[in-house]
Amino acid sequence: MEILHVSAECYPVAKAGGLGDVVGALPKYLNAAGHIAKVVMPMYRTKFLYDNKWEVVHKGSAYLGNTWFDYTIIKEARNSLGFDLYLVDINGLLDRERIYSYEDDPERFISFQIAVVDWVASWKHHPDIIHVHDHHTALIPFMIKYCYPYQNLAEIPTVLTIHNAQYQGWLDWSKSDYIPHWDGWRWGVLDWNNMINPLAAGIRSAWKVTTVSWSYLHEMREESNGLEALFEYERGKCAGILNGIDTKVWDPETDSYLDEHFSINTLPEGKRANKESLCTEFGLNQEKPLFVFIGRLVGEKAAELLPKAIGDSLYYMNQRMNFLVLGSGEPYIEGELDNMREYWAGNYNARIGYNEKLSHKMYAGADFLLMPSRVEPCGLNQMYAMRYGTVPVVRRTGGLRDTVKDIGEPGGYGICFNQASVGDITNAVFRGTELYEDKVYFNAIRKQLMQKDFSWDNSAQQYIDVYKSLLP
Ligand code: ADP
Ligand code: GLC
Repeated sequence: MEILHVSAECYPVAKAGGLGDVVGALPKYLNAAGHIAKVVMPMYRTKFLYDNKWEVVHKGSAYLGNTWFDYTIIKEARNSLGFDLYLVDINGLLDRERIYSYEDDPERFISFQIAVVDWVASWKHHPDIIHVHDHHTALIPFMIKYCYPYQNLAEIPTVLTIHNAQYQGWLDWSKSDYIPHWDGWRWGVLDWNNMINPLAAGIRSAWKVTTVSWSYLHEMREESNGLEALFEYERGKCAGILNGIDTKVWDPETDSYLDEHFSINTLPEGKRANKESLCTEFGLNQEKPLFVFIGRLVGEKAAELLPKAIGDSLYYMNQRMNFLVLGSGEPYIEGELDNMREYWAGNYNARIGYNEKLSHKMYAGADFLLMPSRVEPCGLNQMYAMRYGTVPVVRRTGGLRDTVKDIGEPGGYGICFNQASVGDITNAVFRGTELYEDKVYFNAIRKQLMQKDFSWDNSAQQYIDVYKSLLP
């Protein structure tokens, strides 16, 4: 089978979060299983672009509303990622430093989708499956089903994977002419609450919809930023497939970002060496349990609770533990986390920003990873943490519920809590600190974590089964 993935992110080309990790890994595993997986994404101005060789494979033009634009498809010449990678260059629109958060994001991502569809329509042999990810690419199933210029693609089965239903790409109806000449009778497929809703259109038009954990699929029927009824109605075509992790990139034995490598056999010394270098860098006491948070500083991750939860834990538990935060997001959360550094110096530190290397060092050097998320469709951090022998401390939601079992349950290996609240986080930190102080039990748990298998093999097979079920 030939599968074309269309995405706004793909690691290591461009990554803002877990979507990039998934699209950078799944195609490799599909190829290893004997299929041909390709990825097409926008051409941003990233380091990867300048560090690699490219060849032009197609040039074309299309309309976005009344604006005629040219696009170029380039291909990475050496296949260094383990799959064919194509970038879409649209002058002035896509070739920017950041992935998202420009005012003209609707224009950028709709042009990108038009260019992809226009390009695929020119292929002699079409892909067997088009697999799109999140709202930035969710109009593609609609375009190939209902846009007149692309009817030669209408028979290609489409799969939409929802990594995050909070963002839906809402668009005013005044911009409906952005979508290439479409069957006007189908306006109801695009509409949700008097707006064009690309994610809703994708859910209705795709042949199959998947989400990145079973629990999240279930939760979306109860809470999905307005789409609850649609998920209930379309439940028959939806499935939950848990993400895997790329065990070649995330391997404590070979991780090139780490100064000290370790395995399950060298776990206590290996973790200690990584913790020491982290604690030295951030002025923390390596004898105390180290809790870290890595992620986007936004409400979904309950990041605004961190300052008080950290302050309360340090105050009420007599500074028995240390904290280190890495993240970027809402300026007021960034500000608070940064300002606290001075007051709690020696017990707490933070690095505001995005730093891939430091994130690896933190998974390796920490004792506990905090994830109090309000919404967590899957979450990769907890799986990376476990692979590096770090105990996940998570709220029971979405993929966190599906991947972490509390130490209070038979066979448990993590710390779970129910509410995204300062009280629940502080209580979980207390439980972690007690666990840390019981060295024998703590080491046994870490060993258990490192033996868990979260690799893509199993999940990639589930995607293959989905693709096969859609073919004639
Ligand atoms: P989400 O996609 O919702 O942000 P995930 O848990 O799926 O959450 O994936 C987050 C990914 O982004 C992980 O690879 C994590 O290590 C990485 N990440 C998040 N914030 C940062 C940061 N500030 N610096 C480095 N890596 C980060
Ligand atoms: C999203 C979700 C996260 C998930 C990731 C990859 O960004 O917020 O939970 O792990 O996508 O699927």
